[in-house]
Order: sequence, then C-alpha cells, then structure tokens
Amino acid sequence: MQESAVKAAKKPAPARPVSQAAPQPAANDEAAPDKDLVRIAALGDLHMKEHAAGYYKELFTELNDTADILCLCGDLTDFGKTIEAENLAEDLRHLKIPSVAVLGNHDYECGQPEEVSRILHQAGVCMLGENAHIHKGIGFAGVKGFGGGFGRRMLGAFGEPMTKAFVKECMDECNKLEIALRSLHTEKKIVLLHYSPVEDTVVGEPEQIYAYLGCSRLAETIDRYEVTAVVHGHAHRGSYRGKTTKGIPVFNVAAGIEKDNGKQYAVLEV
Ligand SMILES: [Fe+2]
Ligand SMILES: [Fe+2]
Repeated sequence: MQESAVKAAKKPAPARPVSQAAPQPAANDEAAPDKDLVRIAALGDLHMKEHAAGYYKELFTELNDTADILCLCGDLTDFGKTIEAENLAEDLRHLKIPSVAVLGNHDYECGQPEEVSRILHQAGVCMLGENAHIHKGIGFAGVKGFGGGFGRRMLGAFGEPMTKAFVKECMDECNKLEIALRSLHTEKKIVLLHYSPVEDTVVGEPEQIYAYLGCSRLAETIDRYEVTAVVHGHAHRGSYRGKTTKGIPVFNVAAGIEKDNGKQYAVLEV
C-alpha cells in the first residue's frame, strides 16, 4: 500500500465499520466518506509534567469524537517520573476509544520505563513491543527505536565498544519491531515509533543532531513488510510528511509539528 491508501484527514468523520476491502484513494472533503476507512489519531511528545495534571483532559475528550483509535508515539512523560505517568493515566480516563503506545527517550530518564509502562497499561493503554495489537482489522506494531543517522551517513558498528553498543540499541529495537510485524497478518499495518525512520521528517531540526533523531535501520525493517503508514515523534521541530525508500508514508506527529488538520494530533484515514 502506498501513500494514496492513507489520508491525513482534515475533518472529523463519523465512526464507521471496517472491511478487508482494498483501500480507497484519499477522498476530498466534499466527497462521501468511505465506509471502509478507520480514523487513526496519532500524537507524540505529550511530555506530561509533574504539576500539569488535567492538561490533556480536553484533548482526550475531543478525540472520542474524531478518531476510532489513538496512537501515542513516545515521550509521554517529561522525565519518566511516577507522578507524571499517574497524571497522564488520570487524564486518559477521559479517553473512551482504544489506545496503543510506545515510550520515548524522556520516559527512560528516571531509569524506570517499566513503571511508566505499567501505569499506562493499567490505565488501559496497549503498550507495544514484541507484541503487536489488532483493532478493527488493522495491525499495530511499535517500538521506541533509536538514533544512528540516515542513509550513507548512518553510524556503523565499528571501533570502540561504546560505538558498537550505540548501534546495537537500534538493531535490538529493529529486531523487536520485526518480531511484531512478522506476527501480523492483517492487510493494513501501522507502525508506531518514537525515533524517525527517515530523514524527511527531521528536516527543520539542526542538521548536527539528525543522527540523534532517528535511524534508517528502522526504515529498512519497515520496508520488508507491507506497512500502510508510520507515525513517530521526537523531532519536535521536524517536518510532518516523509516516506521510506519503498514509498511507505511516514508522519512526524510530535505535538509541536503543524498537522494538516490544524490540531496537535494527526488523523489518518486508513
Ligand atoms: Fe519529545
Ligand atoms: Fe524524544
């Protein structure tokens, strides 16, 4: 499935049933809504803070009418503190649609990513990893990812052990993603990441830090599977749209990125 199979929705549409029929090209706003499409909201980098309880209450309430499922693309908390995760869990009580998520680097800062995951899981969020998730016939696979750079400038596993360890972190993330993707037999698949798999969507950030914002290895894994679209965060000042070498659409849904619909979150009709 290529870019025409995914529409970054500009207007909310009513909830609709899903079939396994071939995906339709993106319709314009005046056209009749496609009954086969599922509305997937995606948002990264919420950075919930210790003293910001209630900050996302309205947003989550709004999403109940504008999407069928929410993808959360990491940096869900600002420092990975228990209180931050608890604040987010409390706000998530207002979200009535299902949600899937991956963690981001900020969720690791306090050294207890498992605790952040546990609290969010208890709040009803499906935390992705080696296990994939299926909702309304659409498969969701996701990992945090890691840095390493893009294309021919990507860092190789050469030299000091520390360099090899850096490269291995992304390879391990790719392996987890591959296990999840291999388990999915759905026609449509969405990949969630925190780090970017392509350079396109980090453009806007200082070039000196591209290598810390994502890695092409993630795209190499994604391109081996029939993935419908990729959503990620982390590059707060990057670009919204990109694609992998194979043409799979990639969307940077970090909260600060300008989306087609003028909202903090993107909505993809898949
Ligand atoms: Fe972030
Ligand atoms: Fe991040």
